[in-house]
Amino acid sequence: MTHPNETLALMARHRSVRQFSGRPVDEETLRQIIRSAQGAASSSFVQAVSVVRITDTQARKRFAEATGGQVWVEQAAEFLIWCADLHRVELACHKAGEPALEGYTEHSLVAIIDTALVAQNALLAAESLGLGGVFIGGLRNNPALAVEICALPPQVVPLFGMCLGWPGGETGIKPRLPVDIVLHQDRYHEPDLQDYDQRMASYYAARSSKTKQRTWSQETAKAMHGKKREHMLAFLRERGFFLR
Ligand SMILES: Cc1cc2nc3c(=O)[nH]c(=O)nc-3n(C[C@H](O)[C@H](O)[C@H](O)COP(=O)(O)O)c2cc1C
Repeated sequence: MTHPNETLALMARHRSVRQFSGRPVDEETLRQIIRSAQGAASSSFVQAVSVVRITDTQARKRFAEATGGQVWVEQAAEFLIWCADLHRVELACHKAGEPALEGYTEHSLVAIIDTALVAQNALLAAESLGLGGVFIGGLRNNPALAVEICALPPQVVPLFGMCLGWPGGETGIKPRLPVDIVLHQDRYHEPDLQDYDQRMASYYAARSSKTKQRTWSQETAKAMHGKKREHMLAFLRERGFFLR
C-alpha cells in the first residue's frame, strides 16, 4: 500500500518490538526522542508527565519479574517508566499561591491523557529513527514497585513502562479494525465484527511465530478477563488520584 507521505508510512509500519539487537541507544538520541515527544498537545498546557529511565540492572530484573517475566524489560537498551505527574503541577499551583489539588477525577484524567500522548509520541519518534519498542502495561501488576524503585513522590502515578532499542528481529504488522468500524458519522453505530474476526483469525494462523486459531473477539475477551488488576483503584487513590 502506498502512503501520501513518510509520516503516514511510518505510522502504518508500527509494530511492537520485543527483540532487541543489544546495541545501546546513545544518550543524545534518547533526549531527542523525549524532546520531540514533548511536542504533544497538553490539556491546559499543564504538561503533567514525567518519565524515569531505568539503567540499574537489578532494578530492570525486578521490573521484568513484576511484569510477569517479560524478558525484553531486561534486554531492551532502554526501559522507561511513564508517570502521570500531578506533583509538579501542584508545585506550580503552590508557587502561584494556590492551594493543593484535592484529587479531582478531572485532574487525574488530564494527567493520564497527557502522559499517554507524550508516550505514544516518544514511540513514534523512536520508530522514525529506526528504533523499536513496546509499551509495558505489565508494570501495573505491581505499580508500588515503581514507586519504591523510582522514589516517586505522592501524586505521581506510574502508568506503564516502555522498552526501546534497536530491533533484533522482524515482527508482523497487526491489521487494525476497519476505519468504518472506528469512525462514526453523527451517531454511534453498532459494529459488525464478523469480517474483522475472520481477518485476525487468518493473521494469527499465518504469522511467523506464536500462531493460534483465535479471533480478535476471543483474544479481546481473554485479555479483558485476564487483566483486571483489582488493586489499581486503591493504588490510584493512595497516590492522590480519583479522590473526588
Ligand atoms: C498501554 C499499553 C500497554 C501494553 N502492555 C504490554 C505489555 O505489558 N507487554 C507487551 O508485550 N505488550 C504490551 N503492549 C503492546 C500491545 O500488546 C500491542 O500494542 C498490541 O498487541 C498491538 O500490536 P502492535 O503494537 O505490534 O501493533 C501494550 C500496549 C499498550 C498501548
